[in-house]
Amino acid sequence: MTSALITLPKAELHLHIEGTLEPELILELAARNGITLPFPTLGELREQYEFADLQSFLNLYYANMAVLVTAEDFADMTRAYLSRAKDSGVRHAEIMFDPQAHLFRGVELATAVTGIAEALASSEAEFGISTGLIAAFLRDAPEASALEVLEELLAMGAPIIGIGLDSAEVGNPPSKFVRLYKRARAAGLRLVAHAGEEGPASYVWDALDLLGAQRIDHGIRSVEDAVLVKRLAKEQIPLTVCPLSNVRLRAVDTLAAHPVVHMLATGLNVCINSDDPAYFGGYLGSNFQALVAEFDFDADTLATLAGNSIRSSFATPARKSELL
Ligand code: HPA
Ligand code: ZN
Repeated sequence: MTSALITLPKAELHLHIEGTLEPELILELAARNGITLPFPTLGELREQYEFADLQSFLNLYYANMAVLVTAEDFADMTRAYLSRAKDSGVRHAEIMFDPQAHLFRGVELATAVTGIAEALASSEAEFGISTGLIAAFLRDAPEASALEVLEELLAMGAPIIGIGLDSAEVGNPPSKFVRLYKRARAAGLRLVAHAGEEGPASYVWDALDLLGAQRIDHGIRSVEDAVLVKRLAKEQIPLTVCPLSNVRLRAVDTLAAHPVVHMLATGLNVCINSDDPAYFGGYLGSNFQALVAEFDFDADTLATLAGNSIRSSFATPARKSELL
């Protein structure tokens, strides 16, 4: 990445902290916690990073979480991300975590929350990155489970700024989670949702109209619906696009076929993100680099993408004006 691109202040708004677990850290944490992995060497583990679709990635992503046991593990993972994000010129990060994925494998909510929160608390001082934490709920689990976990997070005073919706999209439409989003809104939380990654454009409509989502994670299949594109452009709904993720999970055939150029041309509020950078070939800088290499984006386009990320964040107005 050129130094101009690094110094351009950027916000990362679509990032799963569990997706930043690098293979080396997975092996280190497995050894620390006495866990035997199905793929015990770096070479064997790395061979698994070839994905046919979202589900094949999710299978490995959830399996690798087994190494996260103590609050220290979560803190180490989070610090490792912040350090790498700093190298990409990230100045503000809104980080998702999957509370249910940890609960379902017997790790207490407080362990995950305490560890992540500890690393985030020193992020501005240590890395110059302001942060927010978003609890993402698993759309392939029942809504009742999400509601229960949200109540627990609220009761324990978890420092979350919002909720999201992730995991297997097709067959798990936003309409499943109307009560969850209503409850989160009543609690004063911000609302985001994955939609239109593998699922149809109708899921983007529903995330907006049924859930009140303020930001759409991915949203690339919106381009299949001209009426939706008009609305997204008119309302400047932020779309957190993840180019390398889309290539690696085969949501697009090639980077050249990615709709990001078309999305920008139609006036959509697009920003660039890394999603699960340890799995998809790189952090925010690598995503920008790939776009520059493929589409030859000029300085104005890069500034638009970076500016969109900051404007679309939930940072305070003071922090936004500092970064813009
Ligand atoms: N899509 C949906 N769910 C996810 C992802 C993703 O890219 N990463 C982690 N959970
Ligand atoms: Zn995602």
